Amino acid sequence: MIKRSISLILFSFLLLVRLSAGEGMWLPLLLRALNEKEMKSMGMKISAEDIYSINKGSLKDAIVHFGGGCTSEIISPQGLLLTNHHCGYGYIQSHSSIEQNLLRDGFWARNHAEELRCEGLTATLIVRMEDVTAQVLDGVGPTWKENDRRNRIDENIQKIKPRIVRLEDQDVFIRGFYNNNQYFAFVTEVFRDVRLVGTPPEAIGKFGADTDNWVWPRHTGDFSLFRIYAGKDNRPAPFDPANKPYVPKHFLPISLKGVREGDFTMVFGFPGRTNQYLTREGARQMVEVLNPVRIAQRDRALKIMDRKMRADAGTKIQYAPKYAGIANAWKKWIGENLGMRITGGLDRKAEQDSLFQARVSADPRFAPYANLVADLEDRYRRLEPFAHAREYYLETFHRNLDLVDFYQMVSGLINTYEGRGEEAFDKRRKEIRDLATAYYRDVNMDIDQEIFVSLGKEFYANVNPAFIYSHFRDLLERHGGDMDRMAAELYSSSLLTRPDALAALMDKPYAEWIRAVREDPVVKFYEEMKFYLDSDLNRMCSGFEDEIAELRRSHMAALIEVFPERRFYPDANSTLRVTYGKVEGYYPKDGVHYLNQTYLDGVMEKYVPGDYEFDVPKKLQQLYREKDYGPYGENGKMPLAFIGSNHTTGGNSGSPAIDAHGNLVGLNFDRVWEGTMSDINYDRSICRNIMVDARYILFIIDKFAGASWLVDEMKLVGLNKKLRKRK
Ligand code: ARG
Ligand code: ASP
Repeated sequence: MIKRSISLILFSFLLLVRLSAGEGMWLPLLLRALNEKEMKSMGMKISAEDIYSINKGSLKDAIVHFGGGCTSEIISPQGLLLTNHHCGYGYIQSHSSIEQNLLRDGFWARNHAEELRCEGLTATLIVRMEDVTAQVLDGVGPTWKENDRRNRIDENIQKIKPRIVRLEDQDVFIRGFYNNNQYFAFVTEVFRDVRLVGTPPEAIGKFGADTDNWVWPRHTGDFSLFRIYAGKDNRPAPFDPANKPYVPKHFLPISLKGVREGDFTMVFGFPGRTNQYLTREGARQMVEVLNPVRIAQRDRALKIMDRKMRADAGTKIQYAPKYAGIANAWKKWIGENLGMRITGGLDRKAEQDSLFQARVSADPRFAPYANLVADLEDRYRRLEPFAHAREYYLETFHRNLDLVDFYQMVSGLINTYEGRGEEAFDKRRKEIRDLATAYYRDVNMDIDQEIFVSLGKEFYANVNPAFIYSHFRDLLERHGGDMDRMAAELYSSSLLTRPDALAALMDKPYAEWIRAVREDPVVKFYEEMKFYLDSDLNRMCSGFEDEIAELRRSHMAALIEVFPERRFYPDANSTLRVTYGKVEGYYPKDGVHYLNQTYLDGVMEKYVPGDYEFDVPKKLQQLYREKDYGPYGENGKMPLAFIGSNHTTGGNSGSPAIDAHGNLVGLNFDRVWEGTMSDINYDRSICRNIMVDARYILFIIDKFAGASWLVDEMKLVGLNKKLRKRK
């Protein structure tokens, strides 16, 4: 018994140490209590109050949620925003055509008037956050079923929101933390006039494209510049040419000093979603059941798109963002599975489960937690066949096809009519008509059909027949089991696949419209699927998933109680977090050591003239040959990217990497392949985030693009003034 508790103590000590550098996505308002001391011991020179304060301007006032999915930061007193090229991608693309190709050639406004409006883009600042757990959980019984609990919480949130103190033009939202054991309210300011200021050509901003994506060593100048515009009194306002550049409470100075191995760094941004506290069974389901389905289907879709994009420049512009999105997750899942395998990730999950179990059995107070891990395992097992089939449905008919979007437009219209009547319908169908026209611009139905066939065959071969809805089976049988013929018929006879036919349909009044819609084979195909999923597969899944959510919530609370010596950080949920670590290389595999920094030299090593992914602009080659780096080079070389042990995830793209003094030294944009499993199993030995070196960003803006007016509005730290003058 004594021996056991000693090893227990030792083991938890190990956990504590393991957590202590790098791991964690921390809440800015709790830094003082939980992290400040450690951050200082790692070299940080500023205080928690300098990072997050509601009393004075602090770093957080420069951190901006970019379009809801990425992070960006303000780097000048005139609202200049820095984010990734891949975050601005959709907006850059929307201003691109074959004649004026911003993706290919880059773009640099020469003054404010030339900055380009980006419709739909939002820039959100966090004013303040506060704990509202007690109000949110008011009246919720400890043993309530998930559904009742959710309803009550929603009601409570509706009641609380108006009571949160804020200015009239500020928004508020409430989010659950620690698997909904705790709730925070966020007061925000949402700016809707955001304009594109500058972007390097793809050959820099996306250098290495998908081959290099998620990979170190990296040579991508993954950045772009935007600007926030504000209305009267510097407040959020809708787009207006008369708006003025936003004057921020704080903006990040940029340091030219560079980084060394072991330097403190922190990344401040909006990480999207992680699942750090999964039990072994939850992690196994992801790695062994769901990821393989996703990877296999996307393999097929991507091969088809890639072939078409290489063959035709127009198709390349059309499909580039779509391809990038699908490929990005595909490659991440492959890396995640790889990392889990080489670090024995599932065994580590199992160890943690048994450690938890041991603590629980050793103390009668913890008796109520005795079955949590086993119950979770049971529910995951029962969910598995359904979740597997559902994943196939999603990957086959939803996530990798455009067809479904057109169906969704139509079914949305049916809902409009049924919910709000003919007048609303008439208004909406005209909007949809225009929307669809714009949408067709980026779709090639032949490619879509080819993907449908390829994924459809895989779906049919691998999904348990019990989960294949009858309409699909009948349809296939009617075509003699020939998926090609079935797809050809679907695509050619539907009104949704042809812009002119769809436009004509949208001109019809409801009675005629609905008759045509009901007869449309694609509408029927998806309607029947939806009926089946809603009434059967998805219903089964959400039954188990509700139970899993309930168990995971209890498990999270139990972990915190059972391991009082551990510091727990909540899983990412698209809210503002601080993560910190060090600049450091790593050992990806036996016999290989990766250094922490890359240089422009690597671009020239990878250079393949005229290549789709590895071409290099002439101007950049010239600057390299002449070593014309201005004040941004170091010892005759141009630093390009670096890595560190900051715990980041999707959504952290565009986040600033900040040095010990609060200056920007890099721009986060990716993680290393072996380490993408950090979303479920952070391991400091191989989990690294990748940042563009701030000096490379400035070099590209200044020396490559000649947009020095932008550099002039920034505040540079450690600048050798003489050098800049000589440039
Ligand atoms: N892997 C990075 C992230 O998850 C960058 C993706 C953009 N680049 C690309 N080639 N798709 O978002
Ligand atoms: N590239 C990711 C993003 O776009 C960041 C990551 O997953 O590391 O947010």
